[in-house]
Amino acid sequence: MEVKADIGLIGLAVMGQNLVLNMNDHGYSVAVYNRTTSRVDEFLKGPAEGRKNIYGVYSIEELVDKLARPRKIMLMVKAGEVVDKLIDSLIHHLDKGDLIIDGGNSHFLDTTRRTKELDKEGILFIGTGVSGGEEGARHGPSLMPGGNPGAWPLVKDIFQAISARAPDGAPCCEWMGEDGAGHYIKMVHNGIEYGDMQLICEAYQLMKTGLGMSPDEMSRIFKEWDKGELNSFLIEITGNILSFKDEDGSPLVEKILDTAGQKGTGKWTGISALDMGSPVTLIVEAVFARCLSALKEERVKASRILKGPDSQFKGNPKSFTEDIRKALFASKLISYAQGFMLLREAGKEYGWNLDFGSIASVWRGGCIIRSSFLGKIKEAFDRNPYLQNLLLDDYFKGIIAEYQLSWRKVVGTSIELGVSVPAFSSALSFYDGYRSDRLPASLLQAQRDYFGAHTYERVDRPRGQFFHTNWTGRGGEVSSGTYNV
Ligand code: 6PG
Repeated sequence: MEVKADIGLIGLAVMGQNLVLNMNDHGYSVAVYNRTTSRVDEFLKGPAEGRKNIYGVYSIEELVDKLARPRKIMLMVKAGEVVDKLIDSLIHHLDKGDLIIDGGNSHFLDTTRRTKELDKEGILFIGTGVSGGEEGARHGPSLMPGGNPGAWPLVKDIFQAISARAPDGAPCCEWMGEDGAGHYIKMVHNGIEYGDMQLICEAYQLMKTGLGMSPDEMSRIFKEWDKGELNSFLIEITGNILSFKDEDGSPLVEKILDTAGQKGTGKWTGISALDMGSPVTLIVEAVFARCLSALKEERVKASRILKGPDSQFKGNPKSFTEDIRKALFASKLISYAQGFMLLREAGKEYGWNLDFGSIASVWRGGCIIRSSFLGKIKEAFDRNPYLQNLLLDDYFKGIIAEYQLSWRKVVGTSIELGVSVPAFSSALSFYDGYRSDRLPASLLQAQRDYFGAHTYERVDRPRGQFFHTNWTGRGGEVSSGTYNV
């Protein structure tokens, strides 16, 4: 009898190839297919050479035929139309109860749509976040599967076997929730990734411009920070990047053009936050910082025209470096608090029963934002699964209380020195806004009512009663409707 493969994978680009090798390392047989079929042979003769139980196939029909039932087919292709086209070409060959898995960075609403459409055909669907880049895919990514819950038992063992392990040995893969929940959580992961990267870049800019440190000096600082509470993959690679030399022996980072690219997941997080009315300020600032960086020619021109203060820091560089570390950690905390606020709103909006401790847990290893800090977040949700906001947890509250003077000093000094720190400063503004029992929105409501009769609620009346004042004596008594987007 012909041997069947445990799982099929379509898309032999770098992530797909490495996932296949990872699955194979864990004893799974994999049938591999790529639209440009020469890639199948290149893979079999290259990275997969000498391996048993990796089968190259050259058509969808052959792939479907090669798989054990219920069939499991993972797509590792570019997000968007390609996924829909592949699903269309697969579905006629599949039987009820078979499973399609999308491992790309798909938009969560596409995943929700696909889950529902395929469910009607009796086909199971999973949209899974896969984080960790090439290295992660090969040796253990963080996986965030969501979709049709009936699909999870079919891949739980494979997924948990190939995923990274957290420091306590737990697999960095758990079921995230229905429909687009997995891809939503991956999207927020990426948004947080944008925030973490921007915060690190602001710390770098302050040390470079304000303190005049060389890349080697900064590399040493980041490597030192990596040994403490900031310990994370992104701090670690930053330390390595800063000491990396170009062929001529000079720091490569200095030669890299300062215009950031982006593939869209940070922007999607910001759009979702706006849709949900969730104040995820830091991630949005991080996206805009990339947009501002992209205006290179305009900035170069403006730099010759628009003047700012002397950007050299005059105080004690050692203690200021420690202030920067504390500002970075406190801001990072705000970013994660905001990210989890967004997840909470999304859970309500889309009817997902999200387990925040579990989300923090699967981010502890394998993914780009992996860090010791995520262990602390998991512990906070273990202590209280209904925690309204991370900032209210004793550990986080304590850190902010201890670090906020340094944080305020860093933001204040950056403003004095003319160094742009949108993430540090928006995090601090958020903190001060969040801890305010009274905000100037009272005045804002008055303005809305003054010019547009939009009405307001009063502190001395029950919520839900709306009032309009004829502020000028000229307007009428008629108010406009009171709806909120
Ligand atoms: C990951 C990453 C990855 C992401 C890239 C590029 O978790 O492995 O988040 O999925 O696509 O980092 O993102 P940008 O091009 O938007 O920076």
